[in-house]
Amino acid sequence: MKLWGGRFQKETDSLVNDFNSSIQFDGRMYKEDIMGSLAHAAMLAKQGIISPEDGAAIAAGLREVLADIESGKAELTEDNEDIHMNVETLLTAKIGDAGKRLHTGRSRNDQVAVDLRLYLRHEMAAIRADILDLQRAILEQAKQYQQAVMPGYTHLQRAQPISFAQHLLAYGAMLSRDVTRLEDCGKRMNECPLGCGALAGTTYPIDRFLTAEALGFDRPMGNSLDGVSDRDYALELMSALSILMMHLSRFSEEIILWCSWEFKFIELDDGYSTGSSIMPQKKNPDVAELVRGKTGRVYGDLMGLLTAMKGLPLAYNKDMQEDKEAVFDAVDTVKMCLPVFAGMIRTMKVLPENMRRAAGRGFINATDCADYLTKKGMPFRDAYTVTGRLVARCSQQGKTLEELTLPELREISSLFEEDVYEALNLENCMGLRSSYGGPAVSETTRQIQELTNFIKEHEA
Ligand code: ARG
Repeated sequence: MKLWGGRFQKETDSLVNDFNSSIQFDGRMYKEDIMGSLAHAAMLAKQGIISPEDGAAIAAGLREVLADIESGKAELTEDNEDIHMNVETLLTAKIGDAGKRLHTGRSRNDQVAVDLRLYLRHEMAAIRADILDLQRAILEQAKQYQQAVMPGYTHLQRAQPISFAQHLLAYGAMLSRDVTRLEDCGKRMNECPLGCGALAGTTYPIDRFLTAEALGFDRPMGNSLDGVSDRDYALELMSALSILMMHLSRFSEEIILWCSWEFKFIELDDGYSTGSSIMPQKKNPDVAELVRGKTGRVYGDLMGLLTAMKGLPLAYNKDMQEDKEAVFDAVDTVKMCLPVFAGMIRTMKVLPENMRRAAGRGFINATDCADYLTKKGMPFRDAYTVTGRLVARCSQQGKTLEELTLPELREISSLFEEDVYEALNLENCMGLRSSYGGPAVSETTRQIQELTNFIKEHEA
C-alpha cells in the first residue's frame, strides 16, 4: 500500500503509477532529502514533539539509509513514487514505528522545496567554480596577446584595431557578471521552506529557525504558502544559466569563425576538434558548435518551467514536479559545457600574424585618419568626410590609406604632414587607444589585474 493509501480502496493503475512517479529524476536528491530529514527529526526531538529515543533512532536509521543508497544496497522504486517516500519507507523498514514519526509536522511539499534548494545550492557553487576556471583560461591566453593587433568588428565588418587580449577580456568581463548573477540568485535561494508544511504551517511547536540554521540557510521563509509554491529560485538560476550560455554561444560562434580558412585567426588543438567521416582534410570545431547548440536547450529548460508555472494558483500543484527535469537538465548541460570550453580555449593555438594581416586590409585606421585631421584643427565632421573620400579613392586603386603618398594626401587636405604615417600605423592606432577600458596595453594590463583579483575574491 502507498504511504498515502489510507483512504483508497483500489491500487493505483500501473499507468498512473508510472506517470505520477518522479523517482527516476528526483532520486538524485537522496542526500539532500536525508539531510533535511535529519534536521527535521533533531528539531522535533529538541522541541519535545517526538521522544529523544525516537529522535536518535531516526538519525541512526537515516544514516544507514544514506549508506545503503550510496552502496547500491537500497533500491529506489517507482512504487514509492518519489525520493521522499522512498527514504521514509526505507527508514521505517529499518526502525519501525519511530520511522513513522518522522513526517510529523511536515509535508512533501515543504520537503521537496527544501531538497531542491539544497541540491541547487551546491550545483550552483560547482558551476561558479567552473566559470572561474574558464576565466583563468581566458587570462592565460590574454596575457600572451596584449600586443597582437587584430581587427575589431561591428556588423562583422572590420571596424577599428584592437588586440586579441582586449577581445578575450570582453568575455572575461561577461563571465564576471555571470558569477555575480549566480551569487545574487544564491542569496535569494538561501531561505528555508522546511516547516511550511503542506501549505499552512502546523500546530506543533516546531522551531523553523533551528532547522533553517542547521541546514545552512540564512532564515526560514516568512510565508508558508509562498514557501511551498515558490520556484523563483529555479527560474532565476535558469535565467542566469541562460545568460551564461548566451555568452558562451557568442564566444563559440567567434571560435567557429576564427578557425575557418576565411579567418584562420586560431587553430583548435587536435584534442578539441573532430574529423569528418568522408572529407579527409576536415578539422571541425564540434565543441564550439555543440556549446552553441546546447544554449537553445538551456533556454528551452527555462521556458518550459516558466510556462509550467504560469497561472498556477497557490499553493502546491503537481505541475510543479516538472521543475526538476528542467532545472537538472540546465545544470547538467552547463556543467558539461564549461570544462570542455575552458579546455578548448586553453589549448587553442593563436595565429597573430593572420590577425595582423586581416587588420591591414579594410581601412580599420580610417577613424584614426579622421582623428589626425581633427587634432590638426579640422572639425571632426569635415575630417570624417575628407577621410571618406580618401577611402573611396584607395578602394578604387586597391591601396591602403598608408600607401598613399604625402602629395596624394595633400591634394585632399593640406593639413597632412609626414607624421600622418605614424598616426596611421596600426600598432599605434591600437596602442594609443588608452582611454579607460580601451585596447592599449596599459588598459589590458589593468583588466588582466582586475580579472585576476576577481577570480581570487570569488574562488573561496
Ligand atoms: N514529487 C513531488 C514533487 O516533486 C513531491 C511533492 C508531492 N506533493 C504532493 N502533494 N503530491 O513535486
